[in-house]
Amino acid sequence: MLGVPRGGTGRQILLVFSIMLAAAWGQMNFTGDQVLRVLAKDEEQLSLLRDLEGLKPQKVDFWRGPARPSLPVDMRIPFSELNDIKAYLESHGLAYSVMIKDIQVLLNEEREAMARSRRLERSTSSFSYSSYHTLEEIYSWIDNFVAENSNIVSKIHIGNSFENRSILVLKFSTGGSRRPAIWIDTGIHSREWITHATGIWTAKKIVIEFGKNGLLTNILKAMDIFIELVTNPDGFAFTHSMNRLWRKNKSSRPGIFCIGVDLNRNWKSGFGGNGSNSNPCSETYHGPSPQSEPEVAAIVNFITKHGNFKVLISIHSYSQMLMYPYGHSMESVSNEKELHSLAQDAVKALYQVHGIQYIFGSISATLYVASGITVDWAYDNGIKYAFSFELRDTGRYGFLLPATQIVPTAQETWMAILTIMKHALHHPY
Ligand SMILES: *[C@@H]1O[C@H](CO)[C@@H](O)[C@H](O)[C@H]1NC(C)=O
Ligand SMILES: *[C@@H]1O[C@H](CO)[C@@H](O)[C@H](O)[C@H]1NC(C)=O
Ligand SMILES: *[C@@H]1O[C@H](CO)[C@@H](O)[C@H](O)[C@H]1NC(C)=O
Ligand SMILES: *[C@@H]1O[C@H](CO)[C@@H](O)[C@H](O)[C@H]1NC(C)=O
Ligand SMILES: [Zn+2]
Repeated sequence: MLGVPRGGTGRQILLVFSIMLAAAWGQMNFTGDQVLRVLAKDEEQLSLLRDLEGLKPQKVDFWRGPARPSLPVDMRIPFSELNDIKAYLESHGLAYSVMIKDIQVLLNEEREAMARSRRLERSTSSFSYSSYHTLEEIYSWIDNFVAENSNIVSKIHIGNSFENRSILVLKFSTGGSRRPAIWIDTGIHSREWITHATGIWTAKKIVIEFGKNGLLTNILKAMDIFIELVTNPDGFAFTHSMNRLWRKNKSSRPGIFCIGVDLNRNWKSGFGGNGSNSNPCSETYHGPSPQSEPEVAAIVNFITKHGNFKVLISIHSYSQMLMYPYGHSMESVSNEKELHSLAQDAVKALYQVHGIQYIFGSISATLYVASGITVDWAYDNGIKYAFSFELRDTGRYGFLLPATQIVPTAQETWMAILTIMKHALHHPY
């Protein structure tokens, strides 16, 4: 352990203890905060919910934003605002239920599960695919993983984040140059921890299945797969050190009080349009200009320079959805029929693993209009098979999905991803 002086275990324990205490003190405390679910009856009720963002700036954190009457709205409310907000809902006839009674209880459970797993990993010198990990743990796993599978995997540094952390991409390739390629990214929204964990499991699955699973082997003989596991490294580090529920990146600008840009509103496709926000304090702030964020620019540069990506899959949570462009408008893409039927097949394959149901369709029709998003940019830049997942669950735990669900989530998602990759292999363009 770095920096621990030689000598008594007592001192060592004391030091470790005080470090743990410091970490615990630094963390935002969500005791008594709740997640409320509102089922809006109509557009009018939805707009009453949208008004909350303005009425209670930075107090209401939408986990599932107001979209359409058939979809529930989940929002995290700080303990201090609960009475006010509940009164607002009741006075407007908005029916709600309490999805999570005390967020801190789930956060404590999550932290304890991580600590238990970390002890086990240290004593067995192994990596647990059924546990959540910190950025340092993931980056060190990446190094070991690449070293152990250098016949097929390499690591590419595609840029640095706002706070100068490395942005890394795993490349799975059996050779060739600029082969038709598949892009998968996880964790562009830092609090969506199930996505990073699913990405890690998926990377491991690819090396296990290569040479055994005929389909995957054929895919890798013809195409390369790129996975960016931590697409928002600053935000992710912040979810561990300070605020587990941080969504945006960590960029700041002179004279602007609020921190962070929603990286999934910062792409140059319908930038600044409906379903994004020009207020830097909003959770969907699109940033000052398209690709202003280094995390987005790094991907744009990498994919553009490569020039032969055929599939892009951007993974989010939660809601159990599989979606395709567009997000920025209700306009249909030219191969909508193909994407729709492919999404249907993928969702069916997913369902067969653990019986989990996904809904599917275009982003604007399934969820809501959202501008400046990854998959729209991909589609507009010639990547015809562009999909966005919202993984488990539908709100029981939301972003705080227990680690016991990592492996089942990854297993079912893998079948959907494989379905999309297979289609791309058999329908080249
Ligand atoms: C968090 O806040 C609650 C209630 O205010 C308090 O009881 C608890 O000790 C705090 N926890 C930490 C780790 O500060
Ligand atoms: C950012 O990190 C790189 C290493 O990844 C280092 O070479 C560079 O000096 C750093 N830049 C700043 C401004 O700290
Ligand atoms: C976060 O967003 C800001 C814009 O507010 C941007 O300048 C910065 O580079 C971004 N930081 C990261 C780590 O993406
Ligand atoms: C945004 O939505 C409004 C109202 O629905 C519509 O009139 C307008 O054309 C939309 N803007 C864009 C850029 O699509
Ligand atoms: Zn997201």
